[in-house]
Amino acid sequence: MSQQFVVQTVNGINMRVFMDGSGSPLLFVHGFPLNHQMWQTQIEWFKKKFTVLAPDLRGFGASDITRGTVTMEQHANDLNSLLNELKIEEPVIFCGLSMGGYIAWEFWNQFPQRLRAFILCNTRSQSDSVEGINNRLKMVDLVLKHGPESISSSMIPNLISEASQQNQPEIAKSLIEMIESTNREGIAASQRGMAVRKDYSDRLTDIKVPTLLIVGSEDQLTPPEVMKNMSAQIPHVKYIEVPDAGHMSPMEAPDFVNQAMEEFLASC
Ligand code: MLT
Repeated sequence: MSQQFVVQTVNGINMRVFMDGSGSPLLFVHGFPLNHQMWQTQIEWFKKKFTVLAPDLRGFGASDITRGTVTMEQHANDLNSLLNELKIEEPVIFCGLSMGGYIAWEFWNQFPQRLRAFILCNTRSQSDSVEGINNRLKMVDLVLKHGPESISSSMIPNLISEASQQNQPEIAKSLIEMIESTNREGIAASQRGMAVRKDYSDRLTDIKVPTLLIVGSEDQLTPPEVMKNMSAQIPHVKYIEVPDAGHMSPMEAPDFVNQAMEEFLASC
């Protein structure tokens, strides 16, 4: 398979997916409010051995936007339909970061036969507290009134560690560009969807596929304890903490993270 962007009609929208490489399918599902570009170094690394698929989710990147609420179920459904349209039948390795992880639980719930393994980065299984939901709805108001520029810079300290802010300024720049290029309605719709997502905490013991959990040691949004607790419940699990990285560990420490993923993939 050669390097290409494919635009596929999926559940009534046009969805763009970046595809490259050959071999077993490795699906990269981005975080909020970003797009497939956050996985650039993973795409380059893994296309040598896998068919990498990195979609822009509904409302993000170059995919179509739908207004209102886009639930995690809807995103999971879109991904399943995308795989159907692309005629990918082999079970996928599902690699999701943060919101990509929330979507992973729904994908597992609805389409377990489609899964070969999980790589879950900087995410959690719990749903939101009342305060968390209110904060999301405040962000929805802000972004609808004032656009993504009103949230981009202030998100950076939560997304990457202080060390990354100081030593790798290009990461903050790239994140700000991704956020500011995202449509405000798309941001609002998935933010509302995350606010109503289900809690999967009491289902973790049922996960049958090999699972790699990756978290940045300095992650403010999904701190290491959160993922360590998840690792205590998932049966076939490996837990990795990435030194000096924050919430965007695959961007902040790509060599470390890619190596950990590669070792895991060789064993499953
Ligand atoms: C993300 O990185 O996808 C977000 O932090 C998810 C969230 O807002 O809970």
